[in-house]
Amino acid sequence: NEFDLTIRNGRISDANTTYYADIGIKDGKIAIIADRLSAADSDIDATGLWVLPGGIDSHCHVDERSPMGMRVADDFLSATTAALFGGTTTIIPFAVQHRKDHLPTVIADYKALAAQRAVIDYALHLIVTDPNPDTLSSHLPAAIRSGITSFKVFMTYEVLKLTDEQILDILELADAEGALVMIHAENDDMIRWLTRKLLSFGHTSPKFHGVSHDPIAEAEATNRAVSLAALMDVPILIVHVSGIEPLRIIHGAQALGLNILAESCPQYLFLTAEDLDLPGVEGAKYCCSPPPRDPISQKAVWDSLLDGTLQLYSSDHAPYKFDETGKIPRGEQTIFTEMANGLPGIELRMALLFSEGVLTGRMPIERFVALCSTNHARTYGLFPRKGAIAVGSDADLALWDPTVKRVVRAELLHDKAGYTPYEGRTVTGWPTTVISRGRVAVQDNRLLLQPGDGELLACGTPEPVVRQRLNGNPNSVRRKFFT
Ligand code: URP
Ligand code: ZN
Ligand code: ZN
Ligand code: ZN
Repeated sequence: NEFDLTIRNGRISDANTTYYADIGIKDGKIAIIADRLSAADSDIDATGLWVLPGGIDSHCHVDERSPMGMRVADDFLSATTAALFGGTTTIIPFAVQHRKDHLPTVIADYKALAAQRAVIDYALHLIVTDPNPDTLSSHLPAAIRSGITSFKVFMTYEVLKLTDEQILDILELADAEGALVMIHAENDDMIRWLTRKLLSFGHTSPKFHGVSHDPIAEAEATNRAVSLAALMDVPILIVHVSGIEPLRIIHGAQALGLNILAESCPQYLFLTAEDLDLPGVEGAKYCCSPPPRDPISQKAVWDSLLDGTLQLYSSDHAPYKFDETGKIPRGEQTIFTEMANGLPGIELRMALLFSEGVLTGRMPIERFVALCSTNHARTYGLFPRKGAIAVGSDADLALWDPTVKRVVRAELLHDKAGYTPYEGRTVTGWPTTVISRGRVAVQDNRLLLQPGDGELLACGTPEPVVRQRLNGNPNSVRRKFFT
């Protein structure tokens, strides 16, 4: 047989359609999709399974230090292993520039960490905290040319945040060089003011993390980010949108024709502020920014994933242990400002949505594929190599068994956080076989890849940037006077 691997009798879904066919794989790529193939020496009978593109998790934090200096629990081996067991075959974590860091060194360091340990393919975003003249005029353009075509910027966190003027500089540079800017939108002054007042009243428990990160602070910053993008006539991506207030602003901006993209995450579908209010410091396990909100916001996130206001569903995996190295630096005495921000979720991201969205009938499987895979590839310049089941695409596939039921237990997961915010939930539908560039990567609950098997992907120009260049506003101040 001319193929290295055949997958036969499966039910295939991509972002558009569902059909039954066989797949032939050669040299890591999909070589044919046909009605009936004869089995290769290596053959998988996918009868009863759903064959989906491997997931792409474009928001995860791997081998990174938090703003407060704490290190995430996962390196590239544990993070990519956990991703893989959850049906994700590509990740896009961040290389983080701290202020004063020399950007080329930062990028080289993350690349070295990943190259040694990643089991699946990865690309990188940058977090830019120091847009000095060197960074803007030479290091960022060089990074973009090398295939890092997306940057995250922060409007909050003392050690990460940029001024609006600095963000405008980055938006201008991104447009000129062909990159997409991702924005963490929360109003830093509002959060600082609320935090100071809460502490002065003796409100110190984890619950008050949620109170200090009020949705109004998220909505204000979201509106400001949209305004900065409109002024510059560029697309932006608002990351980890938590609920109804920012969604109203995003939806309104999109209705005006602005090229605003937005992402949400499992914590905003499946957790609420009440989880932060568990006894003692238990609530620290649910501390992330923005924090989980209320059922009205959960519904708004579901609706927005379905109606297209949100295009991306990522994990924002930011794993910290429930101990002094992360969530509770001073044990039971820890106050809410001291907890590391972020939740583990890279392994459960897709299974939670598959179980609660697809199998309940709430979400078509094609929308699931778009939100978990295809839209990430398009948004970050990896399509159609990734995110598609098509001839010529990488053979990155997850074979889902919609009948397997498991109770979520932290000890069954592969990340190093040591706990999961989803402990005890019953999840139906799991990716029982996962294929990475034509190699069977997970089968019978075993990892069959080695550290270093993953490859660095160079991202092309993000589709939203291409779209903006075609449909930009010729009357914007910038295009009229500064070209
Ligand atoms: O709380 C979170 N989300 N921590 C991770 C960093 C970020 O802002 O995405
Ligand atoms: Zn640094
Ligand atoms: Zn963020
Ligand atoms: Zn994040």
